[in-house]
Parts: sequence; structure tokens; C-alpha cells
Amino acid sequence: MARKLAAGNWKMNGTGASLGELEALVSEGVPQGVEVLICPPAPLLTRAAALAGDIAIGGQDCHAAVSGAHTGDVSAIMLKDAGASYVILGHSERRADHGESDAVVRAKAEAAAGAGLQAVVCIGETLDEREAGQTLQVVETQLTGSLPDTASASNTVVAYEPVWAIGTGKVPTLEQIGEVHSALRAALVARFGAAGGDIPLLYGGSVKAGNAADIFAVPNVDGALVGGASLKAADFRPIISALAATVAE
Ligand code: PGA
Repeated sequence: MARKLAAGNWKMNGTGASLGELEALVSEGVPQGVEVLICPPAPLLTRAAALAGDIAIGGQDCHAAVSGAHTGDVSAIMLKDAGASYVILGHSERRADHGESDAVVRAKAEAAAGAGLQAVVCIGETLDEREAGQTLQVVETQLTGSLPDTASASNTVVAYEPVWAIGTGKVPTLEQIGEVHSALRAALVARFGAAGGDIPLLYGGSVKAGNAADIFAVPNVDGALVGGASLKAADFRPIISALAATVAE
């Protein structure tokens, strides 16, 4: 059984004033049986980590190298040093805005594991790919190419995020989510054996308080990667509670 994770991706949103939202989440505590992760913009990492309590803190990207002449980038070891325990890698916005290929994501995942970070590796099809009936082929190719051979439940989380569902309010049907997650689970087990059954599989893309419980009831959905609804504690808290309810059952 994979562990349960509610992950918030603040993207390029938030200044020091936003840490009040994290403080509000911390004051509620983390429910039994789930992990909660917040990934703020890099400049907030140190301050976020200092007040995060039981909530894990993560970066949103890292460079594959440990250090060097890469202006504007941060390395996995720097994230770890700033207090992060996770890093999101290969988000579709990075793949689109920065041309990140599966091979680049894989190299970053190796760097993250080397630094002792858990990688949240994102994959997902575009609307064109879904409409062309290529979804499973696309996500399985991304999964294979983006995960290093050393991936395990202790250093890797996979997030299935259909590109067309991110920030749009459009969500796949529960059947569509279930179809992809069961294919991804099968692919993980085929490659990593029983250990592939323990790698958490998150769904991401327009997860809200109103749809979280239904999505978490889909087999092989072990949590969510949440963008917009993670920015305010009042929006994220019910999503955490919905995940915790699946454990309490
Ligand atoms: P969203 O973003 O929840 O705002 O759709 C999800 C993500 O990009 O991780």
C-alpha cells in the first residue's frame, strides 16, 4: 500500500505574507495516516521550513548538477539545505516553459535522490493527445523516461496531471482517472516489482474541496497535487481532510 500525500504547489505565487496560510495549516496539525506537503516559491523555502512543523516543505524544480555556472537555477542539495524534503520535477509548466524532456527530468530525479530529497515526478497528456486516443501511451512513455532505475517509494512520488485539467476547472471523469492510474500502477510494478506498488500515485489538475473525496475514492489514487486550491489554508484543509477520511475508513 502506498502512503497518502496531499501536496500543494504554490507555483509562482506568494511572498512572505503568504506564510500566514502555511501557519494556519500548521496550527490545525496533520491528520493521522497522511502526509502534507507545501511547495512554495524558492525564496520562501527557508522561512516556510522554519515554521512548517509536521508539514513537509518542497521545492518546485531543481537543476541536475550539484553546483556550477547555471545562473538562476538551484540544485537539489541547496533545496535540502534550505529545509526541503521534497521537490516537484517535470511539471507540465516546466516541460512547456523550459523545454524539459523526460531525460532532463530523469537526471533531475537522480540528483534529487542523491541529495536525499523525494521527487514528485509529474506526467500527463495534452488535450490533443487525449482526443487522439494516445493518453496511456503518452503517460507510460513519460513515466518510463522520467523515472531513474533507482526510483523507490522512499525517493519517488508520481503525479498524473492531465495538462488540460491544470488550472482550468476541467477534470477527467473518475473512470478516466482510474484508467490512467491503474495503467501507471501496472507499469510501476512491471518495472520495479512489488516496490512499484508502494510508490504513491497522485492525481493533479483542478482538485478542489468539492471533488477531492470522489477522486480519492478512485483505486490507485494515493493523494493529490494541488495548485490553486493550496494557496489558502481554508481551501486546502478540506482536501487534506478528504484524504485523511480514506485512511480512517
Ligand atoms: P491546479 O494545478 O490545482 O491549479 O489545477 C495543479 C498543478 O499544476 O499541480
